[in-house]
Amino acid sequence: MSLPPFCNIGDRASFGYTTATQRWPTILRKASDAVVAAYKESTDPETVTQGKQIVRQILGLIEDILANKRLEPFISTLPGLQSYNETLAKFGHTHWLTAPWLFSECFLYRVVDVIIKSQSNWTQFDVFEVQKRGAFTASSNGVYNLVPRYKELSESKPSESKPSELYPIFYELVEVALWGNAIDLSLLANATLEDLQSRQGSDAIAEAANNVLCNDLPQAWQRLLSAPTKRVDFVLDNAGFEFFTDIVLGLFLLDSKLADKVVFHCKTRPWMVSDTMLKDYPLFLEDIRSFPEHRDEINYLVDRLEQYKEKGAFELEENEFWCVDLDYANISPKETKYGGAQLWEYFQDSALVIVKGDLNYRKLTADRQWPKDTPFTTAIRDLATSGVHLLALRTCKADVCVGLAPGKDEELSAYWKSQGNEYGSQWTASGKWAVVSYSSGE
Ligand code: F6P
Ligand code: MG
Repeated sequence: MSLPPFCNIGDRASFGYTTATQRWPTILRKASDAVVAAYKESTDPETVTQGKQIVRQILGLIEDILANKRLEPFISTLPGLQSYNETLAKFGHTHWLTAPWLFSECFLYRVVDVIIKSQSNWTQFDVFEVQKRGAFTASSNGVYNLVPRYKELSESKPSESKPSELYPIFYELVEVALWGNAIDLSLLANATLEDLQSRQGSDAIAEAANNVLCNDLPQAWQRLLSAPTKRVDFVLDNAGFEFFTDIVLGLFLLDSKLADKVVFHCKTRPWMVSDTMLKDYPLFLEDIRSFPEHRDEINYLVDRLEQYKEKGAFELEENEFWCVDLDYANISPKETKYGGAQLWEYFQDSALVIVKGDLNYRKLTADRQWPKDTPFTTAIRDLATSGVHLLALRTCKADVCVGLAPGKDEELSAYWKSQGNEYGSQWTASGKWAVVSYSSGE
């Protein structure tokens, strides 16, 4: 099969172009501000000197991007970075503003990570942590909506309910976890915290339900009921509110005994601003415990979670594979260098791998310019026959989108343009529509 080209930043009508020329500079300036704020708190002169060096390099990176400089291979021999160098060598000369979008975006976050980790006093510094925690603290409406709902569901003894009674609840919590992804901090680069809050309430979620463009949830449900094993994996996306919605869904799966184990897969590095790392879990507990209202329901949820964690029914894992450039067709026994084979093997015993968010979806589809009525199982290529049962929950925030009915793209493009947007095709990047796509792996 010949594959369509990658979504490319050089395409002016693409969200990749907007991202590279407008969003990346803003994201990087905020990162540099976070470093300045951190070194101003420090009394150690060496930390300050190193912090200033990081700031200089991050600001230099903005200039390189806007001047459309060439992407230079990493000098370090760290295995994950070799993957970038190998891909870059395959591409040949690649410049920031004409590069394949997915590759260059991952490359960008790796460059920032290398800049920071090359300063010995800053190796543990998550340049996005303050933003992530601030956004979660500002998500109180969404949290206050959901914690009483979770307590009520959990106390209703879901493990004694029939599958037909559980399905509507599963559906409801999947929707919450889906739209929990609607807005992330990398998109908030140019928006406000009020924007985030307005999309988190139960009314907003109910209204958004009509905007799910394809919905394979019934197939995923059948798989959950019939799977020989009962472990559910989540390939996580964002920390904060989205992570909280994933936790609620995970807890429900455990409470109802639809799953006997839930594993959350985290990034190993600060990634795409808001993505979840292992170290964000204790911070999440600290932050949710400090919400002033609904104390009883919050404590109930945290206690359930911690009990499952102690029993080993809830686990958090990390893998370097999530922070290399490789797309998810590399979750395969053939990919033995960067963690793909290891994950493939691990996912063979999973009842369901729930893949969250936009970036993960771009990696599933390789961020290629598929016609939008391409079947999801075509776009994920070898992964569709890998034995991995997966469910993608993705609000659309980039150019790629598949699995739509013929004509839907044209209809939405015309609508989006009629709303005064310059490029109708950018409906795919607005965060207003979503896709729920399943692959049985067979
Ligand atoms: O497309 C916008 C964007 O911010 C990309 O930069 C990135 O792929 C993604 O969205 C991040 O969104 P998510 O957190 O859903 O992966
Ligand atoms: Mg993210």
